[in-house]
Amino acid sequence: MTSTPTVKADGTVLTGVSETALMTLCVRANEARRPDGIIDDPMAIRLVDSIDFDFAKFGFTRRQDMALRALGFDTMARRYLAEYPRATVVALAEGLQTSFYRIDARGLGGQFRWLTVDLPPIIELRRKLLPPSDRVTMCAQSALDFSWMDQVDASDGVFITAEGLLMYLQPEEAMGLITECARRFPGGQMMFDLPPAWFAAWARRGMRTSLRYRVPPMPFSLSPSQAAELVNTVPGIRAVHDLPMPAGRGRVFNALLWTMQRLPLFDNVRPVWTLLEFG
Ligand SMILES: C[S@@+](CC[C@H](N)C(=O)[O-])C[C@H]1O[C@@H](n2cnc3c(N)ncnc32)[C@H](O)[C@@H]1O
Repeated sequence: MTSTPTVKADGTVLTGVSETALMTLCVRANEARRPDGIIDDPMAIRLVDSIDFDFAKFGFTRRQDMALRALGFDTMARRYLAEYPRATVVALAEGLQTSFYRIDARGLGGQFRWLTVDLPPIIELRRKLLPPSDRVTMCAQSALDFSWMDQVDASDGVFITAEGLLMYLQPEEAMGLITECARRFPGGQMMFDLPPAWFAAWARRGMRTSLRYRVPPMPFSLSPSQAAELVNTVPGIRAVHDLPMPAGRGRVFNALLWTMQRLPLFDNVRPVWTLLEFG
């Protein structure tokens, strides 16, 4: 994507959970536009500018949380790729993320491969708007249709991301996906995020971000201690790591993050970022 096309792509083709990818993209792009932004993501800015959509309907999108989450996933993927430079990153529910380009720009040797798995309308937009690469493959299907796993060459390592996905699945679907990834990819790793249980309960019927937008229901969540238990309940998981969030912008914000991550008192009210090691 070198410049913003004159004819924009229609964003209204995305509905339901897929529409939320426009919101997270918009938040990252707004953050990237700031002179003191925490994320360097020119492609996210160009992507927003290339999509014809009423982004204002999402309400307040000048916040740093989604950029922080993206940076957290980038950091762990880069850490894995530093050890396994020819590995495949599988981005489940990648939406309109631009992680491949951000990570590739950091110079990791250009040997890693990328598999995007998302629903057909998202993949169609990605094909239209993002620059192709012979290292990127796209699967236009549900992550719950496990046939995408047949496309992964696991011989050089696999890092699976589920950024902003599992909360939208039914509990048995989310657990089934984790279980199958652990079974199929020994030696690989999987990272996912989940909102705190109270938030998920509140958002169960769909949370309003504005008068015109309601986020779809989030039926699945885990507390940090429930996530830690996965090592005992899911065959093939050999370690579970509760990941800290990277520092964001602002002293008060960072002090709050620091406190919530260190005091068990806040375990049930903080989001969970989990890294699973398989094998
Ligand atoms: C909140 S967005 C997250 C997008 C992206 N990962 C991000 O962080 O910006 C949720 C994404 O999940 C995708 N999605 C929902 N159900 C899915 C499924 N069963 N399989 C694959 N993707 C799915 C949607 O199309 C959408 O792209």
